[in-house]
Amino acid sequence: MIAPLVSLRGRDFIDVADLAPSDLRRVLDLASEIKAGRWKDRPLEGRHMAMLFQRPSHRTRVSFEVGIARLGGTTTTLTSQDVQLGYRESIADAARVLDRYVDGIIARLRSHGDLLQLALFSEKPVINALTDRSHPCQALADLLTLEEVRGELARQRVVYIGDGNNMANSLIEASSVGGFALTIVTPPGYDPDPAIVQRARGVNSGKNHVTLTNQIDVRGATAIYTDVWASMGQEDERATRQNVFGPYQVNARVMDQAPEAVFMHCLPAHRGEEVTDEVIDGPRSVVFQQAENRLYAQMALLAELFGE
Ligand code: CP
Ligand code: NVA
Repeated sequence: MIAPLVSLRGRDFIDVADLAPSDLRRVLDLASEIKAGRWKDRPLEGRHMAMLFQRPSHRTRVSFEVGIARLGGTTTTLTSQDVQLGYRESIADAARVLDRYVDGIIARLRSHGDLLQLALFSEKPVINALTDRSHPCQALADLLTLEEVRGELARQRVVYIGDGNNMANSLIEASSVGGFALTIVTPPGYDPDPAIVQRARGVNSGKNHVTLTNQIDVRGATAIYTDVWASMGQEDERATRQNVFGPYQVNARVMDQAPEAVFMHCLPAHRGEEVTDEVIDGPRSVVFQQAENRLYAQMALLAELFGE
């Protein structure tokens, strides 16, 4: 039986870099226990969570709603029609009101700055369910999946090919906290956030796990990861990006250069753009296992944040 983690209780979860390596280990171990049916506590019994969504969501919304219910809790989900943060009322006021009704807030906000403000004014734990800067809950599920399919994190060499976006940023933080090698391959000018890269390189005694490049080289990779070329909010740039990112598509030719690599994608995928059907539907694709693991990784996170 895994005891609840004291150091995460009552805290916000804004980014993977908020976790110490030991915190991450606990979350992943508990997620595995929950998935195996060996941990059935209900730490959210009598607790109610608000879920704020300023952007569409399938996996994040459903996996949190199901996970919270399985842990004994209840939810109210609010879309941008409902609360209208920053328009109908300020983020600070909304946070101080919600605080009086609920035990925690799960928020998918357009702007990372807005999420930080929400967390600042809320006295209850706030969980980042994706911003323009990061997607830490997805990264937790990805690490769980990597361990399941490829073993110990320290032995992984992940190559992410595509946009230096929120997903790339969270994988960079995951690589430094989880201690695995990560290469980020982007077209010139689409690099990940330099502040995140710099901070990640300072973790683990300065050991550099993160390499940035514009050249695809997947030799020795244990996983090849990609994400959409135009994220939510960048729909206007989709046509331009299709030209720029064309040479960075993950197709059979790329996968053939890394025979040991699984294929990963946070989903939703734009098939025929960043990945071909052949790869995402192929035998090395673990994308639905990643999606499934959202449930267990988030249940473990919630148990650690709210457990007695
Ligand atoms: N991967 C992910 O977060 O999916 P949704 O946008 O559907 O929640
Ligand atoms: N980078 C994508 C991730 C979706 C889960 C986006 O922000 O739209």
